[in-house]
Amino acid sequence: MDLAVLASGYGSNLQAIIDAVQNREINGRVALVISDRKDAYALQRARDRGIETLFIDPHVHEGRDAYDTAIVEILHNRKIRLVILAGFMRLLTASFVQEFKGRIMNIHPSLLPAFPGLDGVKQALTYGVKVSGCTVHFVDEGLDTGPIILQEAVPVYDHDTEDSIHARIHRVEHRLYPRAIQLFIEGKLRLEGRRCLADEN
Ligand code: GRF
Repeated sequence: MDLAVLASGYGSNLQAIIDAVQNREINGRVALVISDRKDAYALQRARDRGIETLFIDPHVHEGRDAYDTAIVEILHNRKIRLVILAGFMRLLTASFVQEFKGRIMNIHPSLLPAFPGLDGVKQALTYGVKVSGCTVHFVDEGLDTGPIILQEAVPVYDHDTEDSIHARIHRVEHRLYPRAIQLFIEGKLRLEGRRCLADEN
């Protein structure tokens, strides 16, 4: 199965996915990595592994609709089956979501529905939670509102900083995201209303 990863930044989740493909924990292929930032380190990680990369410049495709239409066309041309958001800092338009309905995943650094949107880790720390975590979910038209695929908690200690919590969350993300992707590839994810049930046997 051909996968595309959309990333804006550091790309540690992308790296975990690439590694999981190499280790055969994911029976798919990262066919393409797209970024909205030319200098995203994620692009470098992909190039280092010989994966096709595309920088799609938001300044060239003016407006969210034109931008997303350009990406959707590329994804269709490449016959991408699953679109994986990994630190992609743009909200997808409703038409993008419709084009790939049930075939877009995101990972978010909080236990959704708590602390959606930007700076999920900072929001949780400021709120004073004792437990946070990360969530892999399908993308719908809302902001981090789609059905939850996998979720795992991490503790928040008194001495924690935003960075220390995020590092703890990242370690879990790198395990959780490849697992969710593989469940999708194996056809083991099933939606019952909002609930996403995973047949892990
Ligand atoms: C991750 O913490 C993810 O939950 C959030 O953005 C961060 C991306 O990190 N959506 P990286 O670029 O994969 O290192």
